[in-house]
Amino acid sequence: MRAGRRITPRSTGSLARVRSPRPVTVRVGQQGRMVYIRPLDAMDRDFLEEMLFEAFFWDPAWPRPTLADFREHPEFTKLLADCGRPGDRGVVAEEQQSKIGAAWFRLWTPELHSYGFVNAETPELGIAVVSAHRSKGVGRTLLRALARADGHPAFSLSVSPSNYARSFYASEGFHKVGESGTSWTLLLPLGRTPREAAAQQATAADEPLGQW
Ligand SMILES: CC(C)(COP(=O)(O)OP(=O)(O)OC[C@H]1O[C@@H](n2cnc3c(N)ncnc32)[C@H](O)[C@@H]1OP(=O)(O)O)[C@@H](O)C(=O)NCCC(=O)NCCS
Repeated sequence: MRAGRRITPRSTGSLARVRSPRPVTVRVGQQGRMVYIRPLDAMDRDFLEEMLFEAFFWDPAWPRPTLADFREHPEFTKLLADCGRPGDRGVVAEEQQSKIGAAWFRLWTPELHSYGFVNAETPELGIAVVSAHRSKGVGRTLLRALARADGHPAFSLSVSPSNYARSFYASEGFHKVGESGTSWTLLLPLGRTPREAAAQQATAADEPLGQW
């Protein structure tokens, strides 16, 4: 376990107050496991690919390609193209120096985007936890850590209505704003005024933390 400022998930206060994901050690879930949450960086590319794979093939009942095959999938290529461009942010959860989950967001355009696109100002979120570590509070901790980054006024995401993650997102304040294919588009308003959001983004742009 690496050293870091220790907080509890409940002690983070308003999501709008903090602008950038900083490394923290968090007591997670009912068993009180200590999980290190740190910014995603370029060295995490392989893990990010694994987590995107998990998020894409979230239903264990579905047949899965290999990750190598998925890398050739046009959606995979699109979602990770130009990784690390300005505006990309992410956090990784580690336990005993093993990566156990990640949450990230990217900004898209009306011309190039994925299923959960709302507009060019609203980052779209992705999240997954390594299967052995699910349902223990890691995903919620990651989402809350990422929601404090950069001061965006809202986040969007895409989720299947039959994925249990939908109730998780609802419990964090996401609500449905549309449908794309068979998925729902959800939005999480973060309670920031446009002026607050712009001020936070201007400051956070100077910080390397979480930039891939
Ligand atoms: C969705 C996911 C990121 C959530 O992370 P997690 O660490 O498992 O979730 P947490 O333990 O923090 O739980 C958060 C909430 O998710 C829901 N949840 C978690 N595990 C669940 C399960 N097995 N059954 C039903 N709901 C569950 C609950 O609402 C839970 O809140 P609660 O503990 O207050 O009841 C993770 O389960 C995952 O990686 N799933 C596969 C990939 C995926 O679906 N990604 C999202 C695609 S949109």
